[in-house]
Formats: sequence, structure tokens, C-alpha cells
Amino acid sequence: MKYKNPEFSIPERVEDLLARMSLVEKIAQLAQISVTHRNRGEVIGRIRETGLGSRILAESNLAGNGSEQAAEIEDLNELQRIAVEESRLGIPLLHGRDVIHGYRTIFPIPLGLAASFDPALVEESFAIAGGEAASAGIHWSFAPMLDISRDPRWGRIIESFGEDPLLAARLAEAAVAGFQDKAGILACAKHYIGYGAAEAGRDYNTAEISDNTLRNIYLPPFKAAIRAGAGSVMSGFHDLNGEAVSASRYLLSEVLREELGFEGFVVSDWGSVSDLLHHRVAVDRREAGKLAFNAGVDMEMVSECYREHLAELVETGEVDQKTIDDSVRRILTAKFYLGLFEQPYASRQEFERRQFTPANREAARRAAASCMVLIKNNGLLPITKGGRKIAVIGPFTDQRRALLGSWAIDGLIDETPTLFEAMRQVFAGDEIVACASGLADEMLISAAGADLVVLAVGESNARNGENNCVASLALPAGQVELVKAVAGLGKPLALVVFAGRPVLLSDVLPLTDAILYAWHPGSMGAFAVADLLAGDAQPSAKLPVSFPRAEGQVPAHYNRKSTGKAYFKYLDMQAAPLFPFGYGLSYTRFTFSEIQVSSPSILPTGHVEVSVLVTNSGARDGKVVVQCYLEDVVSRLTRPERELKGFQKIELKVGETRRVSFKLGNEELSYYGFNGRWSLEPGEFKVWIGEDSQASLGTSFRVEE
Ligand code: NOJ
Repeated sequence: MKYKNPEFSIPERVEDLLARMSLVEKIAQLAQISVTHRNRGEVIGRIRETGLGSRILAESNLAGNGSEQAAEIEDLNELQRIAVEESRLGIPLLHGRDVIHGYRTIFPIPLGLAASFDPALVEESFAIAGGEAASAGIHWSFAPMLDISRDPRWGRIIESFGEDPLLAARLAEAAVAGFQDKAGILACAKHYIGYGAAEAGRDYNTAEISDNTLRNIYLPPFKAAIRAGAGSVMSGFHDLNGEAVSASRYLLSEVLREELGFEGFVVSDWGSVSDLLHHRVAVDRREAGKLAFNAGVDMEMVSECYREHLAELVETGEVDQKTIDDSVRRILTAKFYLGLFEQPYASRQEFERRQFTPANREAARRAAASCMVLIKNNGLLPITKGGRKIAVIGPFTDQRRALLGSWAIDGLIDETPTLFEAMRQVFAGDEIVACASGLADEMLISAAGADLVVLAVGESNARNGENNCVASLALPAGQVELVKAVAGLGKPLALVVFAGRPVLLSDVLPLTDAILYAWHPGSMGAFAVADLLAGDAQPSAKLPVSFPRAEGQVPAHYNRKSTGKAYFKYLDMQAAPLFPFGYGLSYTRFTFSEIQVSSPSILPTGHVEVSVLVTNSGARDGKVVVQCYLEDVVSRLTRPERELKGFQKIELKVGETRRVSFKLGNEELSYYGFNGRWSLEPGEFKVWIGEDSQASLGTSFRVEE
């Protein structure tokens, strides 16, 4: 049998197998189901009889903060063996699980990873997460999540790479490379598309996005993931511009396949096919299955409308047999690509060898330090080690689970060091006092007796992630009061904020000497905080999303359109956010000078090099993210005031100067203009290079007709 022989090419094997399959066996490949103790017997019978496309290793839609069963290798192997040895054609199952920012070794939440502005680091994190997952028998992860997120009220902002299309696109490529090229598991770009624009940050809600914004802001990360070879895409739960996305032929077939050239397979989100009934675009499950399938959803996650109705829909001619073949072809291609026909099983020994290794933990510690944003520092940090009494207080002093963040279902909670434990090790020559009781008055007593105070506040992992949205971005109840009370002691005060989203900092900003924004930093996050506080690691991260002063400013993203009247103002606060996209301090100082452009004018086919001198003019070695922003001065459709077009993270020694340059050509200067056409409009372009989205050192050039 050709399909069992790896000497043949994947397309040859796929065609050979497809030709042997009955319609029922084909439809079985389009199903993804969750196996529980309740349906296990039935699923086994089903696998024997028809085979099965995929098994999702989750028991509910809300796996991100739930208590999910761990994937047991013996159990995975057992059902896999039934598929391989006892079904007629022996097609292996595809095991999918949400490996979002780590498997056993948890890395910072994706929003934190984005703050690193470091694609190499993201690739490494995904490679390690994917490697651990692969050894556990997982073939496919539902990541990277590529929803541009402009609204911190939306709990799923934690899973995103933030508000900027270029940053998210570069990190999307890195994530796909980490999973697919390095770890050999399949990536899934999700949630196609516009899910992050849910009205008022309410999960699952309607999104209305103009074609201009959809293509120029929301599409780039998906486009990048597809170019990088992402093997699957997940269709969103939501409705966009009047269509339920999982029933949109326009989005799933015309844009995704015809325009972007996506060749992998589309999986629905959990129940998003049967949800078409709730959207009230389908009258029953039969119509839901028909709409989703004909729109371009190849595999149905859990809701089973395909299984119930596709065969009949083929008979009546409402679904084309050829479309079924195309979908099955894509899914089989993924299975061959992953090598499942050759190696369907996981090995316990290999699993034990690969999990939570010292090297993986070390990488997670480095990654977490690269992701934490130094928001304020009046000179308190770094703390010189030795001989001091440091009070480590606040609700995050003893946390383990919350440090891992949402969507860390396989993280090892008990092995996650607390901030207190990490501080004691890193500051071994100091006296670290903590207040274990969690009583505010006892925290104050500890602080009052110390030389300096590290106050750790923030939000729980249970306060963000799927369907965990908030209407207020304030720190959780009582925390601002706690900061005020501690600040009232007059001790040097460093605030560490653990959070899955931007929270409001205006009230605490003037009360503290330093603020380190640690996100939910993962398994080794507490050590990363201690490393940064001690200056053993250098802060170098930048905000991947603007930090508003109040919820009323949302959306507060930097890449806003120029308005017709420039004199807009709020009557109760400044219009600008508290901290802009790209912002973050270091322990040294960088100066930017001598911006140069290689040519004052170019043809549309040419490119310019724009460069600056960057000098470390402070007293410590350090890393800086050099950011390049562009303004298309006059365009036919309205464009953002400025857009990130390049970034480079470089390390400079004290006193060192380096010229950093960015190439701007057709790709950077074009946009989706009239009728969604990708075009470059000649004219003037302004460019700025600096340390954040408010960079002021600029120049300009022209693109001639
Ligand atoms: C629903 C979520 O929206 C999606 O991101 C996740 O991958 C699936 N559940 C599977 O757990």
C-alpha cells in the first residue's frame, strides 16, 4: 500500500489513501472530539469502525483556567493503537491541545512575550513548549493566537501579541517556526479573524471592522503566519461585519485561501459550527454544518454537525463530494507531514527526559526577564545586594498558580517558585522578610521595619483569559489602598505588578520609586523579578500595548488615524494614554542621533535605508529596542498617524555607539487601499527612529511616480 510507504511523496500517499476511503471514513476525518470517561467506550467503537480525524485534549471550552486532566501517554497511545491497528485503514489520530505559552515549563503569557520585542526569544520559547508537548504525544497546538488586541477589558488580551500588526506578524512567524520547524508540532493561527475587536471587550461579542482596518491591522499577523507555513487556522466564535465568521465564505475561502494562499486546514473553534444556531444564521444543525463546511471550515471541533449531516448533504448535492475530498486531503497531508504514519506513539521515557529540564527552566527565567517592563525608576533599582533588610509584601508574595497565568494547563504549580523564595535566593546576603499571613496590617509592620520594600500586587490568572473580561481596569479591590498605606511609611518602594493585561497605574505611579510590570511571567517568573531587581538581568522590554489612564480612553492604541480636526480633547483628562506603545525603561540611557536616509527620493520599485546612531550614554551595559515608525503623509484612504515598520533589539556596552538601519521598500510602504488592493501610493513619507512610539528624531523621503 503506497500510503504506508514513506518512500513516496506526501501528495502521492495522500491520493492513494483518499482513493481507498469511503464517504463515511472521509467525514470521520473531519471530526475532532473530546474523549471523556463518559464517551470513551463509544469513541473507541467509532474509531474502529470509521477512524477519527482528531482528538482534542480538553474537556471544556474554558480549558484556560479550568482544571483539565493531564494528557496521559498510555491513554493517548491506547486510542492511537486502536486507530492504527484496528480501524480499516489505520489512519492515526491527531492529538490537539492548547499549548499556549509553555507545556510543563511555562513561559510568560504571550502578551508578555510580545513585550520582549524579540522574535528569536519567542521562537525559542515556542520550540521548548512544542518539544515538551511533542514528547507527551501532542501533535498540534492551538497557538499562536494572533488577534490584534486594542482593548484590555477583553480577558483574552493575555493570549495575544498586543496591538501592533508588525510586531504580531514578526512574532507569529517566530512562533510558527518554533512549533513546526523546531519542535515538529503543528501550529494553529487563531482566531481568524477580528475576534479581539469584540465590542466593549466583551468576549464572544460582535466585531465591526472596516475593510481598511481589517486588512491593514488585523490581517498582517495571519498573513505572516501563513507565509511561515502555519499548517492550520482556527475560525473564530464571533460575528464580524454581519457574518458569523465560522460561516463566512468570504473570510474563510476568498480571503484566506484565494488571496492569502493558505494551504493548510481550517478547524472551527469549540462548538463554533453548532453556535451558528445561536448566531441565528442557521435554522438547525444540518444547516449549520452545511454553512460552515461550504464556507471553508474543514474540521469541526466537538459539535458533530458534520458527522450527523454531511453524508446526507452530499447525497442531496448541497455539499460537493469534491469539497469533502479537498478537506480530507488537507487533514491527511498534515498527518503525513507530522510523520504520524511512521511514528504514531509517544514514549514515556522520552517524556520523562524532556519535561521541565534545568535547561528549559533556565530559558524560561531568561525569557521572563526579557519580558518585564520597567515602567518607572527614580534610581532605586537595581538594588545593590548585601546587608539590607528587604520586606517582600503584598498579595503576590506567596503566589504560585497566578504567576503561571491563564492557559497554563500543564504547568507545574508546586514547582513554581514564589517571589519570596526567589528573593531569598537571589538576595542571599540580605535579610528578606515576608508577611505570610496576608493581613494588611502585618504587611505594614514588616515594611515599617525594613530598609526598602518590594510590594507585589496584581491580578489573578482567573481574572483574564477566555470569558474573563472586566469593565474596570483598576487594580483588584484594596490594592491601591495598600500601595498608599505602604507608601505612607516613607520607605523606598518598588512595586511589582503581575497582570495579564494593562491595569490602571495613574494612582500608584506617584507613590512609588519604581514599577516593574511583570505580566504573568511563568514557571521561573519570580526568579526573573529578583534577577531584574538585583540588576543581574537588565530590563529591556517594551509595552506591546498602550496603557490607558482610564477605561474611557480605550481603545488607546498608538496607530490611530489622523483626524479632520486636530483639536479634539477630553474635558476630564489628557487624550494621550499614560504610557505609549513601545515604552519601557532600562538601567542605562540610550541616545539617538544623526538620522540619515540613503536617498531623498526613490522609485516605487526601490527602497531606502534609514539609519541612526544609538549610543549607550548611561553607566551600565544594556539592551535597547530600536523602533522605526513611518507616516504615509498623504494617501487616498485614511492611514494611521504612524506605524511601526521595523524594530531591532541590540545590546550596547557603556559608551558604545552603533549605527542601526532599517530598510523600507515596497512591503513597508504599501497598504491595502481602494477595493482592498495592495498598493504603494507615491508621495512623501516621514520616518522616525527612537525608543517608543513617540520617537521624535525624524526625517523624510519621497517615492516618485
Ligand atoms: C476555545 C478557545 O477559544 C480556543 O482558543 C481554544 O483553542 C479551544 N477552546 C480549545 O480548547
